[in-house]
Amino acid sequence: MIDWDTLGFNYSPTNGIVYSHCIDGVWEEPSVSEDFKIELHPFAGILHYSQSCFEGLKVFKGVDGKVRMFRPERNAARMADSARYLDMPYPSTDLFIEMCIRCVEYNFEHIPPHEAAASSLYLRPVLFGINSQLGIHSARDVMFIVMSSPVSTYSGAERLSTQKALISRNYDRASAFGSGRYKLGANYAQSLKAYSTAHAAGYDELLFLDSATKTSIEEFGSSNFFAIRGNSYITPSSNSVLPSITNDCLRRVASDMGMDVQVRPIPLSEMDTFEEVNSCGTAVVISPIGILDDRPYLESPILTRRYTFGDPRRCGPVSEKLYHKIVGIQKGLEEDVYGWCKVLDL
Ligand code: PLP
Ligand code: COI
Repeated sequence: MIDWDTLGFNYSPTNGIVYSHCIDGVWEEPSVSEDFKIELHPFAGILHYSQSCFEGLKVFKGVDGKVRMFRPERNAARMADSARYLDMPYPSTDLFIEMCIRCVEYNFEHIPPHEAAASSLYLRPVLFGINSQLGIHSARDVMFIVMSSPVSTYSGAERLSTQKALISRNYDRASAFGSGRYKLGANYAQSLKAYSTAHAAGYDELLFLDSATKTSIEEFGSSNFFAIRGNSYITPSSNSVLPSITNDCLRRVASDMGMDVQVRPIPLSEMDTFEEVNSCGTAVVISPIGILDDRPYLESPILTRRYTFGDPRRCGPVSEKLYHKIVGIQKGLEEDVYGWCKVLDL
């Protein structure tokens, strides 16, 4: 029996994964594996040169009993962008969605009930290079796997509970002309040491600045940044920020609520003018940031600056309204006027 109330954002065993290989440009019929084991040649490029990209999307059981997959075509398109950046083959949108649906069918009983707050079946599609190689070049052959895990909030805390974040000054997640706008495993590798340092110091999240000048706000390591000031929804535009599907939804909803939506470079010097600051993404949904600290470097005992936003123990009212709108659409409580949900016929 799954205890839906104690789920965090962790791997929980499910029934199986769905996979397909693309060899010499030809995709094979997808298969299901129940033992979760895959075979790799030790010279497979992924093990050496990290030809790997992934996606994250959620499936919800609604109050009406319907199962909804949220904007899968956007994840398929982003995976295609990531793979093109890595110059390797990628699944078509149809194959991507077909394998996601098959994974949901196969793991149906792992979709949390709608009563389980902030819970969903998280799908993790992964694409990586498998041909054996020694020289540095793009993968010719790839494996695509869709796996799943039931999840609740990313932090494991109650939904909308505030987070404590730290600005990362001595570690970058992306460079100005690098791969930050793609969802590559390698981008996350760059943040791992920084995260363990920040977690050990009692922080939940890391905020990265532009790597060239350290003067503009970019994004969190797991999610985009957005701020509320008066009637404005403000989020960074940058070539090294991942184009978040959640942020895209929030901008649309904010705009339809009559807010002024600004997508532009945001100098760090503007931080103290914001009333609400949040991270947003598939895993985190919206996580309000209560406290944001700045130190000369992550390991430093010196606190240069502390920012707080509204009541640092509570999600701000505008962000909370946006959160309920998005989650309401995902769970079938609100009309899906944007056509974001793919209702699955299972
Ligand atoms: N930025 C980073 C670095 C992420 O890992 C994620 C998560 O996918 C996001 C932003 C949010 O993107 P999305 O809303 O599409 O999940
Ligand atoms: C997601 O939100 O789907 C992500 O991929 C973020 C994850 C790396 C925590």
